[in-house]
Amino acid sequence: MTIQNVMVIGAGQMGAGIAQVCAQSGYNVLLHDAKEEALNQGIANIEKRLERSVSKDRISEQAKQDALARLQPAAALENARQCDIAIEAIVENRDVKTGIFSKLDAYAPEHAILASNTSSVPITELAAATNRPGQVIGMHYMNPVPVMPLVEVIRGLETNDETYKQVAAMAYSLSKTAVEVNDSPGFAANRILMPMINEAVFTLQEGTASVEDIDTVMKLGMNHPMGPLTLADFIGLDTCLFIMEVLQDGFGDSKYRPCPLLRKYVNAGWLGKKAGRGFYQYQ
Ligand code: NAI
Repeated sequence: MTIQNVMVIGAGQMGAGIAQVCAQSGYNVLLHDAKEEALNQGIANIEKRLERSVSKDRISEQAKQDALARLQPAAALENARQCDIAIEAIVENRDVKTGIFSKLDAYAPEHAILASNTSSVPITELAAATNRPGQVIGMHYMNPVPVMPLVEVIRGLETNDETYKQVAAMAYSLSKTAVEVNDSPGFAANRILMPMINEAVFTLQEGTASVEDIDTVMKLGMNHPMGPLTLADFIGLDTCLFIMEVLQDGFGDSKYRPCPLLRKYVNAGWLGKKAGRGFYQYQ
């Protein structure tokens, strides 16, 4: 099978980014969202980003037009009938995601791969909602998708080698690097990143160092491009807390307990940049 036709489900922050890089890399892309408004917004965001790339001389006007010509909105999930791979990037909710996987299994052709961009739902659980667990896989992009060069390719318990190879090759065709990860809470990226952020919050809570100094330690001392508290504000403190809870539930190990200060900020509505306040204040 050669992957040529891609359907992306969810036109939000991640889905629109995935649809964009696929269309720019020569795939025919159908983009679907449950909400018409979100679908229109997702496509408008792609157009805006491509336009910006043209104005900065990163791509030609022709490349922009070609990418947009390969991108089509899909009003219904039934359009999955035309795809070689469906990439799901909808709300991070187990039940909603398993519901979508069972529908995709019914609509998508037999050869199609069903992939998820989930940050925390076990791929094995999504696979169990289908009759093709060998062809279900995680394709975890980083945010912002057009910029970040990594894709974690996550093998569920039954994911077959052919599916893994196809998806890893697709990631490379998008000019990304694929890493092979087995299904496990937090996969690899969040398993490593989130406890570091959580530890930075403990360091702050205990008064060991200030917000700015904690970030400076990691930027200047460890060569991180961004300090952990700034990064947490960008990701969203609610998301950080949620993923720590996934790690704690999944491993049952107290080393993953979320820092009380992180929980306190989330309870206060200090969710980071998107809320105007997290560890820092934003205008
Ligand atoms: P988002 O909230 O920006 O977009 C989600 C979109 O899914 C919305 O447009 C919503 O209308 C749509 N949607 C919800 N239920 C639907 C359904 N049943 N059918 C079709 N569309 C539906 O969320 P975002 O940030 O793009 O996240 C999407 C997925 O990507 C989540 O699983 C998240 O965990 C994962 N992810 C997010 C990252 C991030 O930094 N935001 C990074 C890596 C993964």
